[in-house]
Amino acid sequence: MDIKINYSKAVSQETVMAYKQQIAEAQTMLHNGTGKGNDFLGWLNLPKEITAEHLQDIQTTAQLLRQECEVIVVIGIGGSYLGAKAVIDALNNSFEWLQNGKTQIVYAGQNIGEDYLYELQELLKNKKFGIISISKSGTTTEPALAFRLLKTQLEEQQGKAAAKDLIVCITDKARGALRTLATQEGYKTFVIEDNIGGRFSVLSPVGLLPIACAGFDITRLVEGARRMQDVCGQSTPFEENPAALYAAARNALYTSGKKVELLVNFHPKLHYMAEWWKQLYGESEGKENKGLFPAAADFTTDLHSMGQYIQQGERLMFETVLSVAEPNHHVDFPYNEANLDGLNFLAGKRIDHVNKMAELGTMLAHVDGGVPNIKVEIPVLNEYYLGELIYFFEKACGISGYILGVNPFDQPGVEAYKKNMFALLDKPGYEEASKAIKARLA
Ligand code: PA5
Repeated sequence: MDIKINYSKAVSQETVMAYKQQIAEAQTMLHNGTGKGNDFLGWLNLPKEITAEHLQDIQTTAQLLRQECEVIVVIGIGGSYLGAKAVIDALNNSFEWLQNGKTQIVYAGQNIGEDYLYELQELLKNKKFGIISISKSGTTTEPALAFRLLKTQLEEQQGKAAAKDLIVCITDKARGALRTLATQEGYKTFVIEDNIGGRFSVLSPVGLLPIACAGFDITRLVEGARRMQDVCGQSTPFEENPAALYAAARNALYTSGKKVELLVNFHPKLHYMAEWWKQLYGESEGKENKGLFPAAADFTTDLHSMGQYIQQGERLMFETVLSVAEPNHHVDFPYNEANLDGLNFLAGKRIDHVNKMAELGTMLAHVDGGVPNIKVEIPVLNEYYLGELIYFFEKACGISGYILGVNPFDQPGVEAYKKNMFALLDKPGYEEASKAIKARLA
């Protein structure tokens, strides 16, 4: 069993099959490296290129940190943290943060909130903590700021020598401030290869080390990704390739006038999987005034808030449901003598049965309301199938971006806010831009 896609409630088979030629061309561009952004294709064959020694090195480092630390702070932003958080949240107990005696993973460098950083510093006071600092460029402001604060705190609490063994950096092999600092201080490091962009880096040490630190089996995760590398490979017929079918279906819906793809789940553990997916598709396709806007909702929770708009608002979206076939645990609906809520007709049924009927009912209601529905089904939430899911979405994203005609592997638009922020902060070198931006505000 693998992850499956069903687009029958979204577009006709004929419409999807009409993409056969375009899909074949996109696959060729990816596999022959002849398309736009071809210097960022390191993710394509990554699962099968990961060696047992590399996984062992990551696991050994994770074990050391887990042995030593009550808390591990993962510092990174965008592609440098979302993939790890997506997998960790999907696999963790929902109340992990209340469980004593286990190494907790927390995050920093993904915002510039002063209160967030203050509260994190307070949490870490008198705790034995470690830091995984992740930045491909090694120069991103948000993680650099967080690392400065937390490195200082760690050195004050543990002493510089002991702190050194509790810090791991994941960055470029030669360039950037983080690489320079890691070399100067003698930190353990892992490399982000030049040809792997942030949002495609979850199967590199960027994702694997934090996931291993959270206690999960990265070997199984990579095995699942390897399986999808075959299933979504160039030699798989279009009709059997889930990544190709998903890419074709969403492009058909975009061409038909849909502007928003809403990724929905019925398991709150998948909230951050959708955050990772939003970055993957938003940053890859949203350029040249083109691209579906990737949005997300957690159901049934958001059916009680966004459900009204989805059912009857502007008809601009389709839904992709991330469905989990089988939960990891079993809970039956209880019988109650008084039956004041009138729910005894469900007594003895699994909670998941109720959830599944909510999922089915929602799909039918939304389709009736003009919201086409694609279903992506994952057999169960475990490392193996999450590995499959990650590679499936990555491969579909590469194909989809090429069908759209953009470079799916760059993100030139991300620089605009940074330029303005540095000008407003009077960063040396930005004198002219500072004058210009302040004149606009005067
Ligand atoms: O996908 C991307 O390239 C971005 O989201 C980056 O991952 C993010 O901006 C962080 O960059 P860096 O790892 O260089 O600090």
